[in-house]
Amino acid sequence: MELSTISKTRTAFNDWLNKEAALQSNLLFESFSSEKVIPKDVLPRKLKGDAYAISCYRDETRWSFLDRVCERISKEGSRFLEDPADRDAIEWTNRLKAIRRDVHKAHAFVRFKKTTEEGKEIFIAWHRPQHLTTDLFIRLFCRRFPTMHWMILTADECAHFENGKVQFSKAYEGQSLEIEDHWEENWRTYYSSIYNPARLMVQAMKKEMPQWHWQTMPESSLIPNLIRQSQNKIHTMAQKSQRSASPYIPTFCQSIEKIQESLPQCEGCSLHAHCRVTPGKGNSKASLLFVGEQPGDEEEKRGEPFIGPAGQLLRKTWEEVGGNWNDLYVTNALKHFKYELRGKMRLHKRPGSDEVAACRPWLQKELELISPKVILCLGSTAALSVSGRLWPVERYRGTWLPSAGQSRILLTYHPAALLRAPDQKKQEYERDFKNDLKLALSVA
Ligand code: URA
Repeated sequence: MELSTISKTRTAFNDWLNKEAALQSNLLFESFSSEKVIPKDVLPRKLKGDAYAISCYRDETRWSFLDRVCERISKEGSRFLEDPADRDAIEWTNRLKAIRRDVHKAHAFVRFKKTTEEGKEIFIAWHRPQHLTTDLFIRLFCRRFPTMHWMILTADECAHFENGKVQFSKAYEGQSLEIEDHWEENWRTYYSSIYNPARLMVQAMKKEMPQWHWQTMPESSLIPNLIRQSQNKIHTMAQKSQRSASPYIPTFCQSIEKIQESLPQCEGCSLHAHCRVTPGKGNSKASLLFVGEQPGDEEEKRGEPFIGPAGQLLRKTWEEVGGNWNDLYVTNALKHFKYELRGKMRLHKRPGSDEVAACRPWLQKELELISPKVILCLGSTAALSVSGRLWPVERYRGTWLPSAGQSRILLTYHPAALLRAPDQKKQEYERDFKNDLKLALSVA
């Protein structure tokens, strides 16, 4: 295999720049459309790189176009290239854009396969650039894989990289690259895992990943099937994401009793199938409302919020700061208990944001009807459901969160966090928790 240290496109460009010398030596690499000789120094230095890129544009007029631009530069200077109405300037910009896009596509779509040659590892890729850009796009790979031995085959020329040096050989004429390796499967697995059927727009996808390149990409064999399956997947996803308690809230729901009456019929998310509902409880004219995350095992069995271990700690601390439990209204972001079974035990499972969103209309209705002076959010799930966004507790506890309504919103720890706290943090958590309850009580 004959290897050259300089690419075909670079040689052709140099011949075009030094056409006179190339003509004289009879070593013209490419036949140019005109015999015009452009003096070397006509092109300003800053435009030489762009001119080279444009010489990589795959069409017959590329040399005559470059000649024309250079001729104009020699007469008018290069300012016309900045004129958005100038036809040559437009053409110059469009050709440059096409080249950059082609280089970008190569960076995204070149897929190496691993093989061995005389016992040494070598990575080979087959790529189909739309323009003559091999010499341009390989530069990134040279920088990125400087210690590897790799080759990129194209129908224009092939780049061989070894020992930190790149060399070029003639075009690859094959129509496929028959090397199977496990990377192929990795690409397929990766692609099907990132593929989002809900975002499928066939036209846009083909624009991003033009069909022209599918032939050289292992994951492309999956595309037709993924497209076919998309409709079903979208349907399931839509069903999941659209679940909401809203249809179960009576149109004229003007009292907390009505909520309590209607809650058992709620099928707004899938949790209803596994347990009974635990409605909020307390004084419907309360000036202070506590919101927790979800009922626990005991709460679900007895249908009342905050009566298990975390609830007892909350009640005790509330009394210690001078509060009266009977003055409060106490509820949860989720009205059903989400758990996983471990033997016969039902272990608390953190709710997903889709479940919080589905159950949110019930909490919002409770807040609307009670309109308390202060809402105390016990933990981040409560704050998410009250305010619609995430507030990390470590950062925001003890602070008033922005409120769109009349009620003020305070965030504190969930009492279960105190039960779980490591010994060295326990005292600090308990002190902060107490202070937050005191603050809520003083404002309400
Ligand atoms: N944890 C909560 O968030 N709510 C309860 O009702 C009980 C425990």
